[in-house]
Amino acid sequence: MSAAAELNEEADYPEVCSVSRVLGTGYNLPDHVVTNDYFASYLDTSAQWIRDRTGISERRWVEGDVPASELAEPAARDAIRRAGLQPEDIDGIIFATVTPDYIFPSSAVFLQARLGCHGGLAFDVNAVCSGFLYAIATADALIGKGIAKNILVIGCDIYSKIINKNDRSSCILFGDGAGALVLGANTAAESGGKDSGTQVVEARGVGVSGSGETLCGIYASELGADGRHTGILCVPSGTAAPVTPESIKTDAHYLTMDGREVFKLAVRKLAEINESIVVSQGFSLSQVDWFASHQANQRILSAMARSLGAPEEKMLSNVEKVGNTSAASVPILLAEAEEQGKIKSGDLVVLSAFGGGVTWGSMLLRW
Ligand code: ACO
Repeated sequence: MSAAAELNEEADYPEVCSVSRVLGTGYNLPDHVVTNDYFASYLDTSAQWIRDRTGISERRWVEGDVPASELAEPAARDAIRRAGLQPEDIDGIIFATVTPDYIFPSSAVFLQARLGCHGGLAFDVNAVCSGFLYAIATADALIGKGIAKNILVIGCDIYSKIINKNDRSSCILFGDGAGALVLGANTAAESGGKDSGTQVVEARGVGVSGSGETLCGIYASELGADGRHTGILCVPSGTAAPVTPESIKTDAHYLTMDGREVFKLAVRKLAEINESIVVSQGFSLSQVDWFASHQANQRILSAMARSLGAPEEKMLSNVEKVGNTSAASVPILLAEAEEQGKIKSGDLVVLSAFGGGVTWGSMLLRW
């Protein structure tokens, strides 16, 4: 019997509402801080312009050649420890990144080797800034099917290696980092993580169970993409455009972006998917405790809050200190917010992201 069905039977509720839950989180940022003054020192820009237009004051970049799996390892170890598990309890790794260690094999298998937890499934996901949302939704589905029990979901990107440091409209935005989360089957008694031993049940949208306890776990996810917009955010290097001595001379293999277009699409789509995921599960936006959205630009977050009618205090934000870390953005935000005592057990949280592709994803969960 699946974990969800077991939970459902015990609770005597007509509808299965959550098969997996967050057991632990972790994050890792490189030590090297890059302030806005650094860009002002060699580009036609100012620290104030960057701050005003993006909300970013500083970001972290790796120094030297650091593979994604190396940056992710401390985040992964923290998440596993906080889940009350050992690396050998992890039977799946899904690694969201567009800056993997190598073209292949995946960063997921390199991380598996670093952690010493061989044998479970391991693969990378490429959905750019939405990668973590795609990865966690996939992990939830795999757990629901009984294919894995404890999946380590990683978001990790090292954009300092793919940005054009002479393009003032894009290089200022991105930071390097890694976030991790362990997702486990939603059998509270079995899981060794937070709230271990508590029987947790809730009917969708009703709020509490007969026993008065709230259900922790993932309620719903939505994923989407619109391939008509591939050109607005792209790293044009690959089989369609192999790196050549000429392309290197002209910086043609670095990230290119139409920032204004990305901005417009991101604001519209993020507001839409945040509202639809909440409403689809019978909740109202005012019941949401935290919005954990991809950290691209403070102005995108503020516009989203206005559009949703949500107080800005509910929009988690670390973009000022971290910048846009792409697939790592949402898991770093969650791990920091949990560490700071903001997100607590039982809180209703919406995750959302929008990125290159274009791609998007949202998720509603009870922490
Ligand atoms: N310093 C000074 N001037 C600059 C800089 C800079 N660093 N960058 C651009 N400008 C100039 C432009 O050249 C332009 O000058 P012009 O009017 O003479 O042509 C002017 O500022 C205004 O440019 P816009 O692109 O309209 O500026 P905008 O207010 O939109 O801010 C920014 C640019 C910050 C890139 C914004 O569009 C943005 O954040 N877009 C979202 C991009 C993003 O987040 N991408 C990440 C991946 S997808 C995602 O994560 C959602």
